[in-house]
Amino acid sequence: MRPPYDDTSKLGFGKYLTDHMYLIKYTNERGWYGEGVKKYGPMVLDPAACALHYSQEIFEGMKAYATKDGKILVFRPEDNARRMNRSAVRLCMPEIPEELFLQALTDIVTKDKQWVPRDCGTSLYIRPTMIGIEPFLGVKPASEYCFYILLSPVGAYYKEGFNPIGIYVEETLVRAAIGGVGDVKTGGNYAASLFAGEKARKKGFAQVLYLDAREHRYIEEVGSMNVFFVYGNKLVTPPLNGSILPGITRYSVIRLAEDIGYQIEERLITIEEVLNDIENGKITEMFGTGTAAAISPVGYLNYREKEYRINNNQVGEVTRKMYDRLINIQYGREKDPYGWVREICRLDD
Ligand SMILES: Cc1ncc(COP(=O)(O)O)c(C=O)c1O
Repeated sequence: MRPPYDDTSKLGFGKYLTDHMYLIKYTNERGWYGEGVKKYGPMVLDPAACALHYSQEIFEGMKAYATKDGKILVFRPEDNARRMNRSAVRLCMPEIPEELFLQALTDIVTKDKQWVPRDCGTSLYIRPTMIGIEPFLGVKPASEYCFYILLSPVGAYYKEGFNPIGIYVEETLVRAAIGGVGDVKTGGNYAASLFAGEKARKKGFAQVLYLDAREHRYIEEVGSMNVFFVYGNKLVTPPLNGSILPGITRYSVIRLAEDIGYQIEERLITIEEVLNDIENGKITEMFGTGTAAAISPVGYLNYREKEYRINNNQVGEVTRKMYDRLINIQYGREKDPYGWVREICRLDD
């Protein structure tokens, strides 16, 4: 289905897939092999393929951005390659050489470059995925895998746009525990979060804020974002203690914030402390970070049916500054002194 490029506000997130995909396979004997770029279409999978039963599956999420002068850029793809390999090791799957990952990305994005939407805030979402395809019933690592990349032109992640969102604080259901797989990107984490997500959605909230699995007190992360609390000139974010995903946007925001002159604290922070500090005005802003939405201002938290408004439900100065700086680098509008953006191709090549 051809996406509505004449009205990109209708693009949504993940609704449209491009004409092509990248696909290679792996066996323990041959290593990685296969054709690479091919026409998008259904794959034939044995119903006993182990990913379907035992969830041996990992993925990544990144974006390609069109610049005003006709370049297609991707943001920190090496970090996605490394994170995918960390996920692979944790799930007993084969690693993908970083050069192969980056070449695959270049090949497929170049092939479907005309699908990259050009309007402000739009991009081409890139979904590298690996699944165990060996057919068997039993819990053990597969000996055959498939790695593929899908592309999807996307608009703004939240229907609210760059406006504050309300977040439901989940007290009982947890996303991940230390020692589990919360710090890698595997489908099971997201399947496990659906129930809490639906609960929040029925109550009218876009996202869930998870607390730690042991004490249900410490802030972890939102379903698809890391979180930051702004205390004036200081940004506080939970540490990477093994149950939250090490977000690439999170790393980027920490670096940008330090360079702007904000103080960063990576430390445990309890929900009681957050709610108190919202009420006494010490927390001046809150935002989430992730590839899908870049930076999402948070306007209020809902905890035990009570609403805690942050910055009067307005986008704050720090949040906007971080958003502008990040987005301007991603879209090639500002110089990138960090070497984060990689040019994939030109639209007119
Ligand atoms: C659970 C979770 N946390 C955090 C993030 C943010 O990670 P990144 O900034 O690399 O997109 C994501 C998004 O991928 C996520 O799914």
